[in-house]
Parts: sequence; structure tokens; C-alpha cells
Amino acid sequence: MTATGKDYVVYADGLDTRRSYETYRRAVKVMPGGASSHGQCYPVFDPYPLTFKKGKGTKIWDIDGNEYLDFILAMGPLIHGHAHPALIKAVTEQLEKGTMFAVLHDLEVDLAEKVCEMTSLDMVRFSNSGAEATQAAIRLARGYTGKKKIIKFEGAYHGGHDYVLAGTGGTPPMGPSTSLYTIPASWGIPEETLANTILVRWNDFGALKKVVNRHANEIAAIITEPILMNLGTILPDEGFLESMRELCTANDIVFILDEVISGFRLARGGAQEYFKIKADIATYAKALGAGFPISALAGKKEIFENLVPGKVFHAGTYNANPLVVAASYASLTELDKPGTYAKLHKIGNMLQDGLEGAIDDTNTQAIVQGAGPGGCQLLFTKLRKIKDYRDFLSTDSEKYMKMHKKLLKRGIYFHPQQYEHLFISTQHTEEDVNRCIANVKEVLREL
Ligand SMILES: Cc1ncc(COP(=O)(O)O)c(C=O)c1O
Repeated sequence: MTATGKDYVVYADGLDTRRSYETYRRAVKVMPGGASSHGQCYPVFDPYPLTFKKGKGTKIWDIDGNEYLDFILAMGPLIHGHAHPALIKAVTEQLEKGTMFAVLHDLEVDLAEKVCEMTSLDMVRFSNSGAEATQAAIRLARGYTGKKKIIKFEGAYHGGHDYVLAGTGGTPPMGPSTSLYTIPASWGIPEETLANTILVRWNDFGALKKVVNRHANEIAAIITEPILMNLGTILPDEGFLESMRELCTANDIVFILDEVISGFRLARGGAQEYFKIKADIATYAKALGAGFPISALAGKKEIFENLVPGKVFHAGTYNANPLVVAASYASLTELDKPGTYAKLHKIGNMLQDGLEGAIDDTNTQAIVQGAGPGGCQLLFTKLRKIKDYRDFLSTDSEKYMKMHKKLLKRGIYFHPQQYEHLFISTQHTEEDVNRCIANVKEVLREL
């Protein structure tokens, strides 16, 4: 395919991405979709993903040498930006000492103690990705309660495994919010697995209560993000999380708080601290590793005592490997420095306020939803508030993609998809935010 007479497909007008295109052409021949993850290929990236070569601080460079100010941060993990010196030092030092033992090492225990202290939870198990953590959390809840079904919310993303894919993937929900319907988001998921998932509309406590009343003796767990950060940013209505927590306690249901994004980001103690609620099991990943593949499930001793041989199975050769543990410990140590969360709040609020200002100044039909250090999202919609997945599906994703491309040309990197989320890091400065807002304003005027 050619465009405008060139021998490569034009990405954004005036942006030379021919080497990215060549790399993509090679990739599609040997990798399905030309990527290692569905989240990294067409049609998420249209017409193809750019190929990146370097990142430092808040900047990234593609293979054609274009520079961008990064507000995606690898979908959230890079809470200290790219190639932070403290993380590089920690990992380099560990490299010299040995890359892997696949058995207990002292830094692993240091990290476990630090995670328990920061999250105010009793015990922790490490794994490598967010999906592994949510999968283990659900198995643990099932093993602990002896029940099978789980409740998750429409559109909510908790990783790419069978237990949690129902109701994701852009499929519009059908029927009442309380029915036992399931929508496969992928081929290959057994019916039996889907039948054990109940989807409920987010922020609809009445529906949630009805489902629990009907199936309480079958429901092992409710899994939720504290803020739906994979649907732009959808905040919980006041009291929604607290009521959910109480409902779980009253019905012997494990409350799994998926803090893969919010953990160590929203606050030192994550969403549990931010919203003053307590999970039975919480899952962590992105900011925990700050760009290195580590995740964790943490929670109450009474539950975690069952995560031992002979009871609930959990294992992984690479779990808590020393390199990622070193990076994670360095990340948490950096986060623990005085003033870090205050800065994240300030920059996060500045970004959110600035985007709101840009919308007002340009009379754009859009809103911003966000949570300070957790980041935010600009949503093209007529609605004054997006409160669930059904609302979210009515937003204008094509317009968002157009904005993304125009911003790319101006050196600002937003994700192409509105369901993603704008992230900030400890390295973002007021100047970075001001530059971003000025460009967003110009682009909104052009749209
Ligand atoms: C809330 C949430 N849970 C779980 C996951 C899965 O994490 P991973 O991609 O590391 O498997 C994600 C990924 O974006 C997520 O946002």
C-alpha cells in the first residue's frame, strides 16, 4: 500500500515514520499481528504501531528519530519515567551478583516487607505480570471460600486470562445489568469458565446487591479496579466501593481490589489509602516494577495462609527473580522520598485542569475525568459524566484517534485509544504539562 506517492504508509501527515513502517512489515511476517500483544498491534495502533528505540526521563524516540513527550509511559508502569538512574544502578549491581536463583533471596524478603508495610496488608506473593496476579487472586479466593463464581464489572480489564475476559473487548453489553449473561471476548474460552462469571454494571450498587442476594452462596469473589482506568478513567460514585466492601464481608465473598494500575501510584498505600477501604486481596504490578516485569498479590493472613503446598497452587520459575526485585525495591524507595506523592498530585492535577481549560477555551464537546497522581483522560462526549462502560461506548473514539495523530506530529505522545489513560511520572515537570496543554489546545481548535 502506498500513500501520497511515498513508498510507505503515512502515519500522521508530515511525520516521517518510514523506518517504523519497514520494521512493521518485517514483524507481520513472523509475529501474528506484527506484535507480541494484542494491545500493541493494529487496530489499536492505526495504521501500524511506531517502533521505538530509546527513552529517557519523559521523552521517547522512535526508530526514525522523532522525539515525543510521553504521557503513556508504557501503559502506566514507568512511574519514574524512562531509564531512571536509581533503577539502572540497582539492576546493574544485581546483574553482577547473579541474575536468578529461583529460590528465596534476601532482597525478596526486603521487598515483601516493604510491600506489606506500604499497603498495610499482611502477606504477599510475587509473580511477573498483572494477569498472573489477578488469576492467582481469583484461584485463591475460590480455594478459600470453596465457591466458584466471580463478579466482575462490564468492560473492566484485569488481564488476558480466561477468568476475566468476559465483558471486555468493545462488545456492547446487552440486557439488564443483573442478568447472568456472558460475552466471550475471545475464541477459545470454555463455556464453563464464562458461566462462572457474572457481569454487573459499574456504579450500580442496586444491581450488584441483587446479584449477590441471588447467588451469594456461589460467589467466591468480586474483582474490581478502584477506578476503571482501562475505560478512560471512570471514578466510583461516592460510597460505591465502601458499599461493595461491606456487601462482601456480609456474604463471605472475597473483595479483590485490582490495583495493577492504582497501586503505589494513587497514594503510597494505593487506592486502599486513597479511598480508605481495605481489600481482602489486592493485586499490584505496574508502578511496583516501574518498567520491570513484577507483580504481586497481597492480602489478609487468614486467606494467604492457604497459598501453600497442598492447598491453593501458585508457582512460577521467574517469580521474584532478583533483577526485577532489585528494580522494584529501588522504585518503592524512590517513591518513599519526601514530597514524591505531593509532586505527583500537583502535576496530575495540573494536567487535568489544563485539559479542562483547553476544552473550555476551544468550545470542544468533551470532558476530562481523572484522579490526580492516577492520571486522567480526555473523553469526547456529549455526556457530563461517564459513569460506566455503556456510557463509555458512546464516546467518540475516532475523534480521539485524530487528536492522537495530530499530537504525535507535534511531539506529544498520547495513546491512540480513548479507553487508555494519560499517565504522569515523578519526572514530569510543569513545563512538560504546559507544553502538552498548549499543543492540545491547538489541536482541539483544528479538530
Ligand atoms: C487493572 C489491570 N489489571 C490487570 C492488568 C493485566 O496486567 P498485565 O498486562 O501486566 O498482565 C492490567 C493491564 O493493563 C490492568 O490495567
